[in-house]
Amino acid sequence: MKPIVLAGGTGSRLWPKSRAALPKQFLSLTSEHTMLQDTITRLPKDLSGAPMLICNEDHRFLAAEQLRSANIEHSGIVLEPVGRNTAPAIAVAAMIALKTEQDSILLVLAADHLIGDHDAFATAIAHAKNLAEQDKLVTFGIVPNEAHTGYGYIKAGNAIDNSVGFEVAEFVEKPDLPTAQSYLEGKKHFWNSGMFMFKASVYLAELKKFNPEIYQACEASIAELESDLDFLRIKKEAFEKCPDDSIDYAVMEKTESACMVPLDAGWNDVGSWSSLWETNENKDANGNACIGDVILEGVNNSYINSEERLISVIGLDDIVVVETKDAVLVANRHKVQDIKAVVNKLKAEH
Ligand code: GDD
Ligand code: MG
Repeated sequence: MKPIVLAGGTGSRLWPKSRAALPKQFLSLTSEHTMLQDTITRLPKDLSGAPMLICNEDHRFLAAEQLRSANIEHSGIVLEPVGRNTAPAIAVAAMIALKTEQDSILLVLAADHLIGDHDAFATAIAHAKNLAEQDKLVTFGIVPNEAHTGYGYIKAGNAIDNSVGFEVAEFVEKPDLPTAQSYLEGKKHFWNSGMFMFKASVYLAELKKFNPEIYQACEASIAELESDLDFLRIKKEAFEKCPDDSIDYAVMEKTESACMVPLDAGWNDVGSWSSLWETNENKDANGNACIGDVILEGVNNSYINSEERLISVIGLDDIVVVETKDAVLVANRHKVQDIKAVVNKLKAEH
């Protein structure tokens, strides 16, 4: 089984730490290692081969150095000249895998998730592998605890494979809030964790069926692969023409070959500062998570992260303060999703 690590996202909801030049997968946010390093080192060694990484060419040295410093053996770093979202990224990786070896089973991983229970994760991977061998596109489902609109939702159908998995009755990417609420109340839906397992050939066949334009653009992009050092460069002109779409919309909502293995392993997609507050295990008696040089007086349930300077807060609840060398964020902990608006304003001004 070959891990494919998707490391091309921008992570803009973790501004000001996560920047265009240093997106969140390259940061150490949940341990002393970076999220990319943790993504690979937590994999069960007996099941997984050397991972292939796919990221934007701007981050090639960052990626290579992070793999090298953690002694991670890999099977290539594929460089995208532009971001075209996850459906093309996975297609390119699958096509390269098929070019270089026989039809391997791919474990597609986001590079920026937190998983607390590695044994439970390894068990789910083993179950998924059985199903992927039977030509299924396997998702990993998380029991939802809120009506989050930033996730895909999977409706569990009949149990399969001695009840280690379920058929996917329906896959709905990023539903609106009333729909997400009805899914939460109905208790039949799981969140899509954003990790997948399938044979390279099975994913490509489904992509070709539902999105031939993406398939063809990716095929043209890898026609003459250029390799230098550990890097594999795909063809810019061809990849630029590829439609931008995620695997969730392009394939998972449409395929009839999907199934789901439930995952109860302390998964969190670390999508915002509030999820870093939630998952922090070292909160003080007042529920504050403090990183760096911080002094608090009468502060509750807050996330305070100082990089360079002392942060002092008095008499505030439910806030987020993140200080870096050149920018400071102060936000209501319940409003941190709106950081995207700030980042968009910054982009427009610069
Ligand atoms: N190489 C590459 N190229 N990687 C990419 C690209 C790209 O163009 N775009 C995103 N990625 C990487 C991100 O770095 C991340 O690791 C992963 O792919 C998923 O992308 P996101 O942009 O974070 O997706 P999402 O959070 O909106 O939604 C996905 O994840 C949710 C769970 O966190 C979907 O799969 C949802 O269904 C799922 O619930
Ligand atoms: Mg995400």
